[in-house]
Amino acid sequence: MKPENITAGEIKKKYFEFFREKGHKIIKSESLIPEHDPTVLFTTAGMHPLVPFILGQPHPMGKRIADAQKCVRTGDIDSVGDDTHLTFFEMLGNWSLGDYFKKEAIEWSFEFLTSEKWLGIPIEKLAVTCFEGNSDAPRDEESAEIWMKLGIPSERIRFLPKEDNFWGPAGQTGPCGPCSEMFYWKGENTPKEFDTKDKRWVEIWNDVFMAYNKTKEGKYEMLKQKNVDTGMGLERTTAMLQGKKSIYDTELFKPILEKIKNISEKYEDRSARIIADHLKAATFILGDDKRIIPSNVEQGYILRRLIRRAIRHGREMGIKENFTAEISEKIIEIYEKDYEELSKNKKFILSQFEEEEDRFKKVISDGIKAAETVFKEKTPIPAEKYAKLMQAPNHEQTIEEIWTRKSQGKAYEIKEAEITESEIDKATITGKEGFLLYQSYGFPEELIIEIATEKNLLFHRAEYAKELEKHQETSRVGAEKKFKSGLADTSEQTTKLHTATHLLNEALRKIIDKNIKQKGSNITPERLRFDFNLERKLTPEEIKKVEDEVNNQIKKGLNVERSEMNVDEAKKLGAQALFTEKYGDRVSVYKIGNYSLEVCTGPHVKNTSELGEFKIIKEEAVSAGVRRIKATLK
Ligand code: SER
Repeated sequence: MKPENITAGEIKKKYFEFFREKGHKIIKSESLIPEHDPTVLFTTAGMHPLVPFILGQPHPMGKRIADAQKCVRTGDIDSVGDDTHLTFFEMLGNWSLGDYFKKEAIEWSFEFLTSEKWLGIPIEKLAVTCFEGNSDAPRDEESAEIWMKLGIPSERIRFLPKEDNFWGPAGQTGPCGPCSEMFYWKGENTPKEFDTKDKRWVEIWNDVFMAYNKTKEGKYEMLKQKNVDTGMGLERTTAMLQGKKSIYDTELFKPILEKIKNISEKYEDRSARIIADHLKAATFILGDDKRIIPSNVEQGYILRRLIRRAIRHGREMGIKENFTAEISEKIIEIYEKDYEELSKNKKFILSQFEEEEDRFKKVISDGIKAAETVFKEKTPIPAEKYAKLMQAPNHEQTIEEIWTRKSQGKAYEIKEAEITESEIDKATITGKEGFLLYQSYGFPEELIIEIATEKNLLFHRAEYAKELEKHQETSRVGAEKKFKSGLADTSEQTTKLHTATHLLNEALRKIIDKNIKQKGSNITPERLRFDFNLERKLTPEEIKKVEDEVNNQIKKGLNVERSEMNVDEAKKLGAQALFTEKYGDRVSVYKIGNYSLEVCTGPHVKNTSELGEFKIIKEEAVSAGVRRIKATLK
């Protein structure tokens, strides 16, 4: 097959076949919502759910693993719509968990990319980078030599610093290591030399040699085992192999964009791409078994922003009716074969889109009422003068010029249309007023402009942009804190709280209701947080009973033991499991005395006597039928 005819599905299939031949077990994508990890909102890379195994927990499927992981990254959300950025993508990855290292990883990457049997990319179209070294880790000559032996000439091997060639940790602490990245030449006539600044060299795959753990103190310690983490962006690789300029030109986007085109009045490329990307990410977030819904906090907030941003771009293209569910159906059609959770949760996904779209419309119409009161206080510019201004071909620049002149304390009347300074002032919707409408009602800028124009008023866009920037800076600082504060903390304290979570889970079933099931868990070094199904509040007596029950088990000094088995066996034994379908063939099961049995990744303490005193500090509602307990260990 010619590479340009290859589909994303075929690349994925070949990838799995190839690594199966090399002794890897193929595992299912993990959830997009990290379990037990309070520090990140979404799974942002394939390695993310595998961190415990990289740190040394045994993986029930063995030491060689490959998969395609669903990922959401919102850091580049403002660049979405260009040729390469996405908020949702699939990442192909192969892992060595304390097994093979640089030699095999690089040789296999090379074989998969270049062999006729696999992707068949001509060697001339490939270039690679290696880590140049610093005081924490040495220059990676070893990788460069392996590449050279395979046939990559030294002119197409570059050594780059930490910013480019040292991956991770995803947070402030955790596994990390030097990496070697592979680039594909997407232009004509491949140059002999690899110029890393030339954008026609596109990164397609990254081999990370995870041998270090970055500690809280900022030290790089050697990990107990050497690991390999690789990541190949499926959308990008597909576009490159097919010779497409943009990821949006592949079959992973084309049908979605066509659908958008069909329902829009005035098609706009960038808006359509943003809609396609955002609704794809939203479909996958809603499709996750964790049942995230649009809200004003955490994952729900990102979900809401993605959907509402898509709706606004829809408006810009003249789409008036609800459309997000219809687009989502198309997205589900493309992906349900690989991600069965999408068909399973389809009704939920589509109804959430409908509801959020209705809610947003209501917000907008409330906003219009509030906007009317702002607009009423203004004095319109006389119609003739306003028309004259608006008919000038460069009226937008003219208006912009006014604000600049005004801010510099210069005269700012519009001579061409004979509009005086006082007329301008009385007719202006200020940036602050506009921003208030946005902040309280999510009222979009373009709508303010639309209405202002209808009413012969002016809108101070420059001032509005400044207000918005101030606001975004503060919220970005907040978000960055969240994303940067480190991957799942595996300190002693979180391990203890994790074991206590298992005891609590069982105690609730024993004391309160045998139908209780875990709905979510989140652990920080300070506390555990456990969500479960129950239609009512717990009484203070019940809370005390549950506490006593957990403390009794702690006092008994029960051993915690790990074993491996098939999903079916675990089910037969009555092990608690959150979402069994994601676990693949073999799973780890943790047994605490004869008290609790749960399918779980770990880690846990060895004996419950290590835990200390268990105390419930809060019991509250999360949503209809779901309660939340926060508890500590002293
Ligand atoms: N973790 C690395 C990345 O995200 C390789 O999988 O690029």
